[in-house]
Amino acid sequence: MASPDCRMADKERIIITSALPYANGSIHIGHLVEYIQTDIIVRFLKLMGKDAVYCCADDTHGTPIEIKAKQLGIAPEELIATSSKEHQEDFASYHIEFDSFYSTNSAENKALAEMIYLRLKDAGHIYEKDMELTFCEHCKRFLPDRFVKGVCPKCGAEDQYGDQCEKCNTAYKTTDLVKPFCTICKNTPIRKTSSHLFFRLSRFSDQLRDWLVSNKNLQMDVKNQIMNWIKEGLEDWCISRDGPYFGFKIPGTEKYFYVWLDAPIGYISSFANYNSGDIDKTINEWNASKIMHVIGKDIIYFHWLFWPAMLMGAGMKLPDNILVHGFLTVNHEKMSKSRGTFLNAKEFLKMCPDPELLRYYYAANLTDHMNDVDLDLLDFQEKINKELVANIANLVYRTLSFLEKNFDSSTVDVTDVSCLELLKKIKIDSDETVKLYGRYNLREVVKKILYISSEGNKFFQANEPWAKVKSEEGKKDAHQVLSTCVSIVRDIMILLKPVMPSFAEKIGAQLDLTLDKKSLSSVLGPHKIGKPEIVLKNIEEIKLPTVAQAPIEFPLDLKVAKIISVEDHPDAEKLYVLQIDLGKEKRQLVAGLKKFFSKEELTGRKVVIVANLEYAKLRGVESQGMLLAAEKDEKVVTLSAKDSVPGDSVAPKGMAMNTKKITYKDFMKVKFEVNGGKIIFERKVLATDKEDIIADIDDGAKVC
Ligand code: MSP
Ligand code: ZN
Repeated sequence: MASPDCRMADKERIIITSALPYANGSIHIGHLVEYIQTDIIVRFLKLMGKDAVYCCADDTHGTPIEIKAKQLGIAPEELIATSSKEHQEDFASYHIEFDSFYSTNSAENKALAEMIYLRLKDAGHIYEKDMELTFCEHCKRFLPDRFVKGVCPKCGAEDQYGDQCEKCNTAYKTTDLVKPFCTICKNTPIRKTSSHLFFRLSRFSDQLRDWLVSNKNLQMDVKNQIMNWIKEGLEDWCISRDGPYFGFKIPGTEKYFYVWLDAPIGYISSFANYNSGDIDKTINEWNASKIMHVIGKDIIYFHWLFWPAMLMGAGMKLPDNILVHGFLTVNHEKMSKSRGTFLNAKEFLKMCPDPELLRYYYAANLTDHMNDVDLDLLDFQEKINKELVANIANLVYRTLSFLEKNFDSSTVDVTDVSCLELLKKIKIDSDETVKLYGRYNLREVVKKILYISSEGNKFFQANEPWAKVKSEEGKKDAHQVLSTCVSIVRDIMILLKPVMPSFAEKIGAQLDLTLDKKSLSSVLGPHKIGKPEIVLKNIEEIKLPTVAQAPIEFPLDLKVAKIISVEDHPDAEKLYVLQIDLGKEKRQLVAGLKKFFSKEELTGRKVVIVANLEYAKLRGVESQGMLLAAEKDEKVVTLSAKDSVPGDSVAPKGMAMNTKKITYKDFMKVKFEVNGGKIIFERKVLATDKEDIIADIDDGAKVC
């Protein structure tokens, strides 16, 4: 006989991970696709007796966390502790059960990141190179791509982030942006050179290709994409960042590890946490285990190229599988705050209090491909009511309650030929369900379970046990039918348990049967069940919360200015060129006022101008802003602010001005009203801190 230890060694260890959620945000229903998918797979493997270990952690490092903590006036450690607690509560509320949920800001992760880095460095895979980067002198920091915005160098789209244009999808460097501005302080950044560390990814092209070809588990659709990237040539990867940064210092330097270097190492350190912090044991077991990552399609590059290359360079075990899922859409559209479909885990639970219904729905839509998952709320209701309630829960309840009422809650040995035949057929379907689970095709798993259940319902219906129990002979027949149905219900619950663990356990308790691998398709025999109760009921349509209107912002930076001098435009009959004083600065404006005012009338006058309009050339002369005037029936007046001084801000009372540069088109969208000589925006009067702005003109005049 094998010793218990020996049996343990037979058991294959599988380390399974979900991507590490960023610590600077809440878990939303998009994230839940992945954690539910992974949790179902882990529960299935455990059900099959595998030694599966589900490891995850919060991804805690990087600029966004550092800045958010600074804004909140707390230490980043405090911020990540709060979000770790919140994340774990959210996961638990959807019955997602980790074997280890850790943090990338841990001693183990630091030790492992340093170890892997030094192994890469010693093997010559790291080198230093100067880079030109975007630096904000006001914030005194280098700006990562999410912290610089500007005009896309390719298509001219405005307000684009520093990595990629959302309009034309061109990828570029922050330094390529036209008219860049710092998203923290809105100032114009400069270019600054800094020396950084690079990982020689390009060296690993052949090894990566070999790994992709030899690993038969990897998804074909992703594999082809990666092969293309390798063919196009891989670029080396910058793994260092300048401070201020929340992360680990790179040994022997003043720089920090880029968050994406220590994030995947967080998989190993979460496993180290499972091993009570024993790093040597962890590395040995990691190298001896099967490893599978579950990720979304947005982070393929990191997991299929950087991460395996790092592991190769450090002489460690590569992943055996990387399962990639698509993105969640809600009602066929990208999740959106304004449509009310950007729901976090807690909000959805309020709308639909049974967390296992979402687990069921996601399972019913997840395959082993990269397809997106759509949460169509009407379809959600229909699937729950027609499939879970009318098919599965119906078979469960009618079987158990009929047995209780007519057979004193007891089953008998099944000997009837047609019953045995059905059970034989169902065993084949159950085995196939297990195979589909093994291929991680959850949609087909759910379909198979529903098929088994409808076979059970058909069998119940066709045999009419309610009629049979009326005679002695028929009653025996009916008992055979019901005992068969109990056996089917048990098998369905075993198969459904990874998807809906709590529902299955409740039914398991009513059956008074253990739902394990051994029991699947086993002979039931005489058995007394517990008390049947209805567990699932029809649900109402899920209504999206009505979204509160976004607060209205005032998009302009208006300022009081004094006209210093007025000249004719050299090239345009109707235009003047004005030199104006804005207190701290002087500017030049081009204005179409010649028809309405003489030069003398304007010189020395205090006016209101738009200071955040993009500079534009009007007939060859630059206009650095725009003078505001009001017009009605051919009469034009400038806006007056006689008690204010040049440079004073003008805004609707109680609203903040906006210094972000705007285009003329954006300006045209701003609507003012003139009422009793005052200028109104969204029912608020334009004013400086000293007085209301006056327009000496009739109501209904246009401000332009
Ligand atoms: N921190 C990184 C992962 C580091 S792994 C070493 C990250 N975090 S994340 O919070 O943005 O995303 C975590 C996982 O959730 C990713 O696999 C991502 O693809 C997935 N999803 C995030 N939003 C999603 C949807 N809307 N739909 C489906 N999955 C989504 O990336
Ligand atoms: Zn700044």
